[in-house]
Amino acid sequence: MDAKTGANIKTGKFVVGDRDTTFPIYEGTIGPSVIDIGKFYAETGMFTYDPGYTSTGSCESKITYIDGDEGILLYRGYPIEQLAEHGDFLETCYLLLYGELPTAAQKADFDNRVTHHTMVHEQMSRFYQGFRRDAHPMAVMTGCVGALSAFYHDSTDISDPTQRMIASIRMIAKMPTIAAMAYKYSIGQPFIYPKNDLDYATNFLRMCFAVPCEEYKPNAVLARAMDRIFILHADHEQNASTSTVRLAGSSGANPFACIAAGCACLWGPAHGGANEAALNMLREIGKPERIPEYIRRAKDKNDSFRLMGFGHRVYKHYDPRAKIMQKTCHEVLSEIGVKDDPLLDVALELERIALHDDYFIEKKLYPNIDFYSGITLKAMGFPTTMFTVLFAVARTVGWISQWKEMIEDPHQKIGRPRQLYTGATQRDYVPISRRK
Ligand code: SDX
Repeated sequence: MDAKTGANIKTGKFVVGDRDTTFPIYEGTIGPSVIDIGKFYAETGMFTYDPGYTSTGSCESKITYIDGDEGILLYRGYPIEQLAEHGDFLETCYLLLYGELPTAAQKADFDNRVTHHTMVHEQMSRFYQGFRRDAHPMAVMTGCVGALSAFYHDSTDISDPTQRMIASIRMIAKMPTIAAMAYKYSIGQPFIYPKNDLDYATNFLRMCFAVPCEEYKPNAVLARAMDRIFILHADHEQNASTSTVRLAGSSGANPFACIAAGCACLWGPAHGGANEAALNMLREIGKPERIPEYIRRAKDKNDSFRLMGFGHRVYKHYDPRAKIMQKTCHEVLSEIGVKDDPLLDVALELERIALHDDYFIEKKLYPNIDFYSGITLKAMGFPTTMFTVLFAVARTVGWISQWKEMIEDPHQKIGRPRQLYTGATQRDYVPISRRK
């Protein structure tokens, strides 16, 4: 890709023992440069070591950029605040997939293509019957998304650009349907089919909350909030679930299987499961006067408790998405007529205290996107178990865009990290009769 062909490549020198070794340095358009250590093992006989990849770039990408110190998030160079304010989610999907904002004609064509892929194969509904009604919807999502590859053999040839784009459109279009079906199944209500004359967010809310016995009345404020929440969650550089999708895709696995792997990773409470965990934490705290006890626990090294919705590997300042999420939260609460939500009172007071506490200031722990999303989604009528599902619906476009970028990267090869081995040295087998 471009950075690897730059004429004026600088080099970095490593002194390992009595050997000097130099490696090329590549500069990006913005952000830190990288040192290419691909030949480090060949040159030094050692591996580099960076569990959690705190200082390791896994790829070159043109999709999303985060400046964690300044609290900046750009999708293809456009600030998240402007996209959330002026655009809609499908415009963001087009931007992430194609790299440019669509013209009016391109947007109309893209919306039409997505709209006409929103139904799932009718036999998909039988998968749901196999789950217990009280199964966590993320278990259902992970299973059903992986099952898509059993239905769409005509878009699993990843070497064919046309099939890659069809698979991308299918994933973006069908995730809301699969998610809504998981929700309906969990509450024992019939599945609601998508309706092609509705926009993406309204269609999704209708599939979740409509019932066959009465006319569904869309709420434009809630639909706008849902659409904005999808925009905020669409992509985020090489986060854990996106890296999972890239690693799965590097073996040539089909895109549906890769997205299922992304769902599985996102489910973790340290990642996409944090919105559900954050709301459960606010419920456990219950009232502002109990906050100091939890702040103390969060600081206690011997206590595994963490303030869910706080902290981030990259943002060492306010997560720009959290600010927009907080604004959306107030809009939704006022639209549904909630004057004082006790959970919001706890959240606002917890944020106020934490932002003035030396521990959180020193460790640069600020609210992240998950801190306010839970309160908003609960106010919109979703159970906490659906929060990560909604995150997965939104993040699918980011996963699939990053997957496509990786497949189209001529330097791409299967990902296969090495290790520091500290296990037993070689030893001979001992028959069981002689083991003590
Ligand atoms: C998402 O990567 C992405 O981009 C993710 C995401 C996306 O859009 O894809 O932004 C979505 O996952 C947001 C993050 C949601 N997770 C949470 O809200 C869970 C709570 N947060 C933490 O678990 C933690 O902050 C992480 C996992 C988010 C980040 O962890 P790091 O970067 O590995 O940092 P760390 O765990 O090493 O913490 C650094 C220090 C530690 O103290 P020391 O060991 O240095 O003394 O900060 C402390 C931690 O103990 N700390 C916290 C804390 N988060 C970190 N202390 C209390 N409460 C917290 N929430």
